Amino acid sequence: MTGGGFDLRALLAERGGERYELHSRYLNPQLPRVLRTIGFDKVYERAEGAHFWDADGNDHLDMLAGFGVMGLGRHHPVVRKALHDVLDADLADLTRFDCPPLPGLLAERLLAHSPHLDRVFFGNSGTEAVETALKFARYATGRPRIVYCDHAFHGLTTGSLSVNGERGFRDGFAPLLPDTAIALGDLDALERELRKGDVAGFVVEPIQGKGVHEAPPGFLRGAQELLRRHGALLIADEVQTGLGRTGDFYAYQHEEGVEPDLVCVAKALSGGYVPVGATLGKDWIFKKVYSSMDRVLVHSASFGSNAQAMAAGLAVLSVMEEEGTVARARRIGDLLSGRLKELVPRYELLHEIRGRGLMIGIEFGRPSSLGLRGRWTMLQAARKGLFAQMVVVPLLQRHRILTQVSGDHLEVIKLIPPLVVDEADVDRFVTAFTAVMDEAHGGGGLMWDFGKTLVRQAVAQR
Ligand SMILES: Cc1ncc(COP(=O)(O)O)c(C=O)c1O
Repeated sequence: MTGGGFDLRALLAERGGERYELHSRYLNPQLPRVLRTIGFDKVYERAEGAHFWDADGNDHLDMLAGFGVMGLGRHHPVVRKALHDVLDADLADLTRFDCPPLPGLLAERLLAHSPHLDRVFFGNSGTEAVETALKFARYATGRPRIVYCDHAFHGLTTGSLSVNGERGFRDGFAPLLPDTAIALGDLDALERELRKGDVAGFVVEPIQGKGVHEAPPGFLRGAQELLRRHGALLIADEVQTGLGRTGDFYAYQHEEGVEPDLVCVAKALSGGYVPVGATLGKDWIFKKVYSSMDRVLVHSASFGSNAQAMAAGLAVLSVMEEEGTVARARRIGDLLSGRLKELVPRYELLHEIRGRGLMIGIEFGRPSSLGLRGRWTMLQAARKGLFAQMVVVPLLQRHRILTQVSGDHLEVIKLIPPLVVDEADVDRFVTAFTAVMDEAHGGGGLMWDFGKTLVRQAVAQR
């Protein structure tokens, strides 16, 4: 075999140090810029579970899980072994004209968690899972329009972008698909749209990633009743909330009687190793889309159902079932949000802790005391979201904990750690967060100096 001169380890050893330059030169040039600006331009060398280490061997706690893909943490030994095994098996994968066993086995196992659903389409990402649901809903109902929620995020390819609830993502990409946004929780608005008779479906995140806002109690069930009455479909986007993240296998299961027609999953399904997406749906929808032999490839993906993704998915579900990952996410999530809620009365800048399981939003807001209010107003005048950024930065710089601001112009930090975080990790986060809050409420020091830098940058960018 040729190509024997390729040595990945040697390549990384030789050129790994050029990582930021390579990005600046060949990839999205803004990423290294942003990272440098906020001092996040680190070099991480190794990772395991909910932790990773920099070149000096410093341990970092991951409260972001690679935007949710690392549900089981990094390098779970069972998932890793499944991937080694599938490579070593020399399978005749992706011949495309046979029916390999792994996709069927993964579909069977995934559907066992949503007994009202019957079939699965496997793609390669969250946005592709959503695209599939939009196409299936439109074809199955013969209607064009999709209703979605303000502030929704369903991915960034053109169909998913059409149901994105933020102008910042959409601007400049029109025309998109026919669509209509309603406020999360507004059943009257949904009904008004449905009465027009052209709605194929309503797509919703049971807990929105942006800002960590949960659909109000009864909304999903109410929406489902309206949709059924009007012959339209309920599409649950569980790309971020699914696979145990919120303390149920799917977040929609928190509300009794909710049985979406289509469910989108991705991210954590393959343990963070292999891109994957899955759209689960009812039998009649799949039968309608794939209604004849002529239509066998009417919706397909070259890499869909590939053996590595399927093997990783099977390993992930097996680990989740054996280790009780869903119940654990609920227990550790309750512990973490409970301890954070205790801090709310103590800190005037800390307004609310919300979310479910290990999807937690920490919302900051206007303080009551005069001194802090001046500082807060200065930040808000420059750009909304700067205070949350001021918290995220020392959490990483001084406490080596990675978190993110939950969307542009939001004073909300979102915690979506790997579901394997433990009590010690919770303790470490709460201790660090308390120290940062103490500093913020002291009103001086490095933190507010950094705030001034952020203000200057925000003003300069106008
Ligand atoms: C709810 C939701 N849907 C869809 C997507 C898109 O997934 P991907 O980035 O894999 O395309 C995301 C990604 O963050 C998401 O949170």
